Amino acid sequence: MSEPLLSIESVSHEFGARRALLPGRRSHLAVDDVSLTIAAGESVALVGESGSGKTTLGRVVAKLLTPTAGTVRVEGRDIGALRGRDQLAYRRTVQMIFQNTQHAFNPRRRIRDILSDPYEIHGLPTPGGRDAALGELLERVGLHPSMLGRYPHQFSGGQRQRIGIARALSLSPRLIVADEPVSALDVSVQAQVLNLFARLRRELGLSLLFISHDLRAVYFLCERIAVLYQGRLVEVAPRERLLESPLHPYSRRLIAAVPGLGERDSAATGLAEATGDAPEAAPDRGESTAAAVAGAEPSPALATGCHYAARCPLHVRLGRPERCLTERPVLRTAAGGSAVACHFAEAAEGTAGTPSPPGSHVSVVSEEVG
Ligand SMILES: Nc1ncnc2c1ncn2[C@@H]1O[C@H](COP(=O)(O)OP(=O)(O)OP(=O)(O)O)[C@@H](O)[C@H]1O
Ligand SMILES: [Mg+2]
Repeated sequence: MSEPLLSIESVSHEFGARRALLPGRRSHLAVDDVSLTIAAGESVALVGESGSGKTTLGRVVAKLLTPTAGTVRVEGRDIGALRGRDQLAYRRTVQMIFQNTQHAFNPRRRIRDILSDPYEIHGLPTPGGRDAALGELLERVGLHPSMLGRYPHQFSGGQRQRIGIARALSLSPRLIVADEPVSALDVSVQAQVLNLFARLRRELGLSLLFISHDLRAVYFLCERIAVLYQGRLVEVAPRERLLESPLHPYSRRLIAAVPGLGERDSAATGLAEATGDAPEAAPDRGESTAAAVAGAEPSPALATGCHYAARCPLHVRLGRPERCLTERPVLRTAAGGSAVACHFAEAAEGTAGTPSPPGSHVSVVSEEVG
């Protein structure tokens, strides 16, 4: 098998690790021994409830944070060891896009200047002239070159997100880490920006680490889905597999809790209707959505064992096996190309609703709009 573009190897990130040496101070292990790879051209989603460590892991991959343990490799090279020119080259290879477009740009600078920065910093040539290169960049993200003279406040949220994407693309990255890039946008604008990502992936062969709460967006854009719970990966699976036959009890709850994955009058319908593409009904896992709202219950992390045990319906159903409390479940290969970190995942199969036939999900959008 060829080498993955990105390889996250046993990575942990602990906030306040040094401070915790002082009396009364505690650290927080936001990412806990995570391993994940992304192939060239592949798009992988990172999902999980608020505080599960998605942004932290994304920032580690973009080298905006240094992991406290483990290694991140891009094209086989340990990014922690990069210095000088190699580090600058890495910054071109991996770009991060953030959720909040409101504060992403200096309001006093025109788009021309904002988009020129990467060229200046990296000393990139623009053979046909700077304005021509910048205009082409804007066109690539569906904006008009005449907009170069505008200020950030003269754009809508969706347009600003496109400018963020244009800025990231200016360096011809191979991997984009997109952290909730559409969450702050209107449903119809979300569809446009998601379509833009899909088109750029096709045209440029980009790899994507797509961080999102939104399983509909994830299904549309990503081939594989990685589920994070309290800093640990609990399941990694091809998207159909994860949405139709999730193995980990937390993945099951996460999917059951998504409004719209089982209802037609949902945000999913709105997203698709906005693009003229009606969704089919998605599987309903038969679990109580109210009870399953991810993050609704406090969940004490165990020093040993499975972090999810305290909330886990399977743990209760199986009579609270001791092993869940004493032995940390490792991510192991399971059926259908999934990897799951649960000692008893197979015992839950067939107990959480009727599996749906392939292709019965929400289909989000097929054509780019606007
Ligand atoms: N700079 C920081 N210092 C201390 N703790 C932090 C810091 N940044 C994040 N954390 C903690 O690390 C954990 C993971 O945070 P992170 O932002 O990665 O979560 P997330 O999955 O991106 O959440 P959300 O979906 O809300 O964006 C949280 O408990 C958070 O409080
Ligand atoms: Mg986040």
